[in-house]
Amino acid sequence: MDNNIRIPLIGEQAPEFRAITTRGKIDFPQDFNGKWVVFFSHPADFTPVCTTEFMTFALMEKEFAEINTQLLGLSVDSLSSHIAWLRRIEELKWNNYNGEEVKFPLIADISMNVANKYGMIHPSAANTQAVRAVFIIDPEGIIRAMFYYPASTGRNFSEIKRTLLSLQKADKEHVATPADWQPGDDVLLHVPVTSEEAEAVMKLSGEGPYKPLDWFMCFKKDEAQ
Ligand code: BEZ
Repeated sequence: MDNNIRIPLIGEQAPEFRAITTRGKIDFPQDFNGKWVVFFSHPADFTPVCTTEFMTFALMEKEFAEINTQLLGLSVDSLSSHIAWLRRIEELKWNNYNGEEVKFPLIADISMNVANKYGMIHPSAANTQAVRAVFIIDPEGIIRAMFYYPASTGRNFSEIKRTLLSLQKADKEHVATPADWQPGDDVLLHVPVTSEEAEAVMKLSGEGPYKPLDWFMCFKKDEAQ
């Protein structure tokens, strides 16, 4: 086990790096300032689960752009492997995927420099491939969420989008989102920190959009509804 491996944590500044990608050189996070970024790793090009993931991300890329989110992929394969694989993917059909172009950059991290900065190599699983890591990074370059999946499990991209929408709502409206929340559902107020605030919450019962279940748990109708 490599003791130098460290996973950057939620709330920390995302580690900086320069890298070569299928869309040219990038300087992270400078080149992405002002955007949310979904930065993800996959184990290897020309593998079946990864191929279904890229098909899904290619299909959803526009949806992510609509919520100010840039996708950024990485594996430890070479640039020529990435290019050949992406071209082959565009010739395939699967579910709703029908040759949509993968427009987002895919990092060729042969040296594993970037993968190591983000704790994407888990040597006990594989020391020559990244696991399926996902980092959600906000427009200020702060890590806001992360997911790790094993090589055999393809990711749920709707959950990645749902997490982004939850974070964006939390930032905009200073609320939290309950279990299994979907856009449009009721949200939750933050827990009161004084007894005066707790009493005020209980008095909200039946008032406008508020629905307190208890002093520490108050639902609010979605403002957009
Ligand atoms: C896959 O994408 O299918 C895969 C990649 C690496 C290990 C196992 C499966």
